[in-house]
Amino acid sequence: MNVVVVANFDSMSAEVAKMVFAQIVRKPDSVLGLATGSTPLGVYSLLAEYHARGTDFSRLTTFNLDEYVGLAPDHPQSYHWYMRENFFSKVNIKPDRIFIPNGMAEDLEAECLRYDELIKQAGGIDLQLLGIGSNGHIGFNEPGTEFGTTTHIVDLAESTIRDNARFFESIDQVPTRALSMGIKSIMQAKEVILMASGGSKADAVCAAVKGPVTTAVPASVLQLHPCVTFVVDQAAASRL
Ligand code: GLP
Repeated sequence: MNVVVVANFDSMSAEVAKMVFAQIVRKPDSVLGLATGSTPLGVYSLLAEYHARGTDFSRLTTFNLDEYVGLAPDHPQSYHWYMRENFFSKVNIKPDRIFIPNGMAEDLEAECLRYDELIKQAGGIDLQLLGIGSNGHIGFNEPGTEFGTTTHIVDLAESTIRDNARFFESIDQVPTRALSMGIKSIMQAKEVILMASGGSKADAVCAAVKGPVTTAVPASVLQLHPCVTFVVDQAAASRL
């Protein structure tokens, strides 16, 4: 595992955007795994700048990690909306090469199977971006998630609902379930980059990097991945 410690949010974003850019240069038809949350926002805006300066994104395929159950794509807190607002509307990825789990599917189990099949058909994920929850979750794989999981339906942890309540008018409006790529899906990516910024992530980063590999801290499984880089700012690295 490589751990790169940088000064702050902006340098974390610049470092990760550069790594994604390098991946696109090396393999223009890469399959990227994308994350949401506040952490990757700087990366998306820098990638949009790369595009504005001429980088072609048209051969990429993208798979998002997760989506809330019950939020339609036009709901401002859905991850469909987030991705369109913050990234897809600013680059030239083909709409039919963009994949996000459908949290409105009538048959959620079938949607999970369909999503895994789509990843397989695309040849697997070349580079997976991750944030980390304050409880160590990756995607929406909460503590206790088995390492063998593929895309699945998740009951969100209380702490995650609380963390994410800031984006909703009230905590009652935060969905309690989500669809998420599983731990196995993430571990099958050829390369993984986990980003973290701020002191609220320091315990989770420390447990993920230095603690035992345990389902109690989902991100700790990344210690077993052959090609993973943590790009963390000084505040998030403060317990390392
Ligand atoms: C959500 C997302 C995760 C993300 C985490 C951290 O729960 N499902 O993919 O990593 O939040 O979010 P933030 O980056 O806003 O701290």
